[in-house]
Amino acid sequence: MTAETRKEELKNLLERLNSGEATEKVKKEAQELINSISAKELSEAEQELINDGLEETELRHLCTAHIEAMAEELKALKANVPVGHPLSTLISEHEEILKILDRLDEVNAEIQKLNKFEADNPLFEELKEIGTKLLDTEKHHTREEETLFPEVDKGGVTGPTRIMRMEHDDLWPHKEEIMKLAENADEMNFDRFKEELKMHSEYVVVTLRDHIFKENNILYPTAKDMIAEEKWEEIKAQSDQIGYCSFTPEAELAAN
Ligand SMILES: [Fe+2]
Ligand SMILES: [Fe+2]
Repeated sequence: MTAETRKEELKNLLERLNSGEATEKVKKEAQELINSISAKELSEAEQELINDGLEETELRHLCTAHIEAMAEELKALKANVPVGHPLSTLISEHEEILKILDRLDEVNAEIQKLNKFEADNPLFEELKEIGTKLLDTEKHHTREEETLFPEVDKGGVTGPTRIMRMEHDDLWPHKEEIMKLAENADEMNFDRFKEELKMHSEYVVVTLRDHIFKENNILYPTAKDMIAEEKWEEIKAQSDQIGYCSFTPEAELAAN
C-alpha cells in the first residue's frame, strides 16, 4: 500500500467512524489498518489529514482504535505467558506500580490542600510508605536492564532499550527526593515542602506511567517475539538472583 492509499483508507475509515458507524466491523478494519502500518506512518498520515483541514477532534476515534489495538496486544501477551514467566512477573509488577502512582497522585493532591504540617495526619505516613515502594521499584528496573534488555539488544533492536534505561536513570533522583521529603516534612518550611513534593510527584507520576505504557505495549511484545523459548529460563534464573520487590504479587513468586 502506498502512503497515498493508506491516507485515503484512513480518511475513509474516519468518515465512517465519525458518521456514527462505529460498529465492530469498522473498528476491526481500523485496527487492522493500524496494525499494518508503522507508528511513524500513522502519525504522518494523521498529520496530513489535519493539514487537509480535518478537525483534530475527529481523529479521536482513530486514537481510540489505536489504543484498543494495543490493549488487545497486551491482553494477548499476558495470555501467552504463564504466571512466573519473567514477562508475567514484570507486567504484574507494573500493575502494582501503577497503583502506587495513583496513590502518590492522590496523596500529593491532598497535601497541597493543607496549610501546615500535621503530625497526626496519616497522609504523611502514607507518603513515607509510597516513598519506600518507589525506591523498591529499582529491583524491577534492574531486572529489566540486566536480564531482559541485553537479549533484546542482541536481536538488534537497541533504540527502545536505550530510551528505557535513560528513563530509569532520570527517574531515580526524583524518587530519592520524594523519600527525603517524606522523611523531613516535619522540619521543612511547609510551602517549600509542598512545592518540591508537587514537582517531583508530578514528574514521577507522568514519566513512570508513560514508561510502563511503552514497555507493556511495545518493548515486552517485541521481547516476546524476539527471544527464543529456551532463553527465558536463563532470564528467569538471573531475575531470581537479582530478587523481587516488596509488592511483587505472591502468585508470581510462588510460581518460581
Ligand atoms: Fe523499565
Ligand atoms: Fe518496567
